[in-house]
Amino acid sequence: MSTEDNEGFMRVVRHIQDEVDFEPEYYNEAYLNRRISARMRRQDADTYDEYLSVLKDDPDEKEALMDSLTINVTNFFRNGKMWEALREVVQELTDNNRSVKAWSAPCADGREPYSLYMLAIDDRNIDESRLSVLGTDISDEALENARKGVYETTRTTDIGEELSLLDHPENYVDVEDNTFTVKPEVRRQIDFERHDLVQDGPKRNYDLIFCRNLLIYIDSEYKLPVFDTLTSSLKHGGYLVVGMTETVPQEIRDDFEPVSKRCRIYKYVPEER
Ligand SMILES: C[S@@+](CC[C@H](N)C(=O)[O-])C[C@H]1O[C@@H](n2cnc3c(N)ncnc32)[C@H](O)[C@@H]1O
Repeated sequence: MSTEDNEGFMRVVRHIQDEVDFEPEYYNEAYLNRRISARMRRQDADTYDEYLSVLKDDPDEKEALMDSLTINVTNFFRNGKMWEALREVVQELTDNNRSVKAWSAPCADGREPYSLYMLAIDDRNIDESRLSVLGTDISDEALENARKGVYETTRTTDIGEELSLLDHPENYVDVEDNTFTVKPEVRRQIDFERHDLVQDGPKRNYDLIFCRNLLIYIDSEYKLPVFDTLTSSLKHGGYLVVGMTETVPQEIRDDFEPVSKRCRIYKYVPEER
């Protein structure tokens, strides 16, 4: 990026910091630039300053940029091989514990925590009555959608296909034309609440935590603090699942034993220090 472009880019970032409900400093520059450039193309803006004027004048663009920055792309059973490998982990946890606490952070529109609970009901070897599931996200809009549990098949998203890892999806989801609604008895089992993984600190005594497809966007300075939150929330011997292109930082890798390296499932076994 030329110096002039870089200055223009920084002006847009500062404006986001001041005026948009989003913390650009958490995320790496390459990511921010990709999302801003995508909006610039949509607005036919050739320079960052041209885009900044659009952003200042048009409240709809502020919304559109916010949507683009919060990247709440997700699927039911995203990375199916991971979910197949996870069956054994959830089975072991529910066999050995009276109650098992799982946390999907971030959960976007809820498909990840619903996947876990549906897998547990669908798999005869898992006792779902022992499982409680929490989904959290920074985006209130994503959480509102998660609580509703309504998903549409569109040109680019096939919800029926996403649910095909289940033997009996019809037991957990009502289908009408292209609309899939998670049944109330499944929805009731998942709690959703707002939580910012960078700022809001840990929770306690979790047996299983998913933190998938957020770390890739987070600036390196914030990765260790996020992992601090995750490990402080995990029981010793609990499990952590990260995204397929994400890794546990070198500094704390010894505290994790891979259960499946390929599927990014780790057991938390910190040495007493
Ligand atoms: C790509 S989705 C991942 C959803 C799901 N874990 C998956 O892998 O399919 C990323 C989510 O991270 C949320 N997010 C972004 N920054 C966050 C933060 N600081 N704390 C919590 N959630 C955050 C976004 O709102 C978005 O819903």
